[in-house]
Amino acid sequence: MSKQYRTAITTHIDGKPHVYGYDLNKLAGNSSFARTIYLILKGEMPDKNSEKMLDAMLSIAIDHGVEPASVVAARNVYSGGSPLQAAVAAGVLAFGEYHGGAIEMAMENFKKYQPFGVKKLVEDFAKTGVRVSGFGHRLYTVDPRTQRLLELAKEFGFWGKYVRFAVDLESELSKGVKLLPLNIDGVFAALLLEMGFNPKVGKGVFIIARTPGLVAHVVEEALREKPVRRLNEKDIEYDGPRPRK
Ligand SMILES: CC(C)(COP(=O)(O)OP(=O)(O)OC[C@H]1O[C@@H](n2cnc3c(N)ncnc32)[C@H](O)[C@@H]1OP(=O)(O)O)[C@@H](O)C(=O)NCCC(=O)NCCS
Repeated sequence: MSKQYRTAITTHIDGKPHVYGYDLNKLAGNSSFARTIYLILKGEMPDKNSEKMLDAMLSIAIDHGVEPASVVAARNVYSGGSPLQAAVAAGVLAFGEYHGGAIEMAMENFKKYQPFGVKKLVEDFAKTGVRVSGFGHRLYTVDPRTQRLLELAKEFGFWGKYVRFAVDLESELSKGVKLLPLNIDGVFAALLLEMGFNPKVGKGVFIIARTPGLVAHVVEEALREKPVRRLNEKDIEYDGPRPRK
């Protein structure tokens, strides 16, 4: 009879935890965190350039200011009196299709359409009106984080068919009414495919990258702000009914 849980990730060998066969006690002190993250997500050790690429991605996405929905959610939940873990979890819950949660879908799209070319994707999406995951940004017309990661992709040997497809798609989409820059989710998607990751890890990589930022914001909220944030009434427009009898 099969056992209740099956896992290939971690087990104890001679009393010591091993991840995919690697002794954590030996990795500690010898392996970077990015390298160990790659191992646990993929089941194998990265080569030097894959390690550097993943490390750059994790660093560049660590925070993006107090403004994003996830940080506002995390800080507000903490300010209501909930503990750090609840506040950070609230921040993670705000990662959705429009903010940090588009990587998996972008990976699926790139995989599906890369053999047919960018024009086919643009045509199909135009018919349905669905937004193309990984493109567009509220703040940027050119996302500087994307530009840096593309530079590093060239340097570390990841300028392959998926990165080319993503860059070509950015040009094709931007022929429309609005500039739609390749955003951080889009460039992550292309790079994760170049590194051979399954699309299912996509959202997880963003969560891993951004969680230290969320923790920092919640700790700052704890140390610097008074409890109970409240919106200022002058910033609220009430457009409901006037008093009724
Ligand atoms: C990120 C995003 C929310 C930023 O939006 P924005 O720059 O404020 O743009 P708006 O929401 O004002 O949309 C303006 C127009 O551009 C279009 N548009 C925006 N992003 C688009 C995209 N990725 N694909 C196709 N059309 C897009 C919208 O449909 C909208 O057209 P409409 O007015 O006819 O509805 C948006 O670009 C988006 O939804 N991108 C796809 C999801 C994604 O990549 N998320 C990860 C973000 S890091």
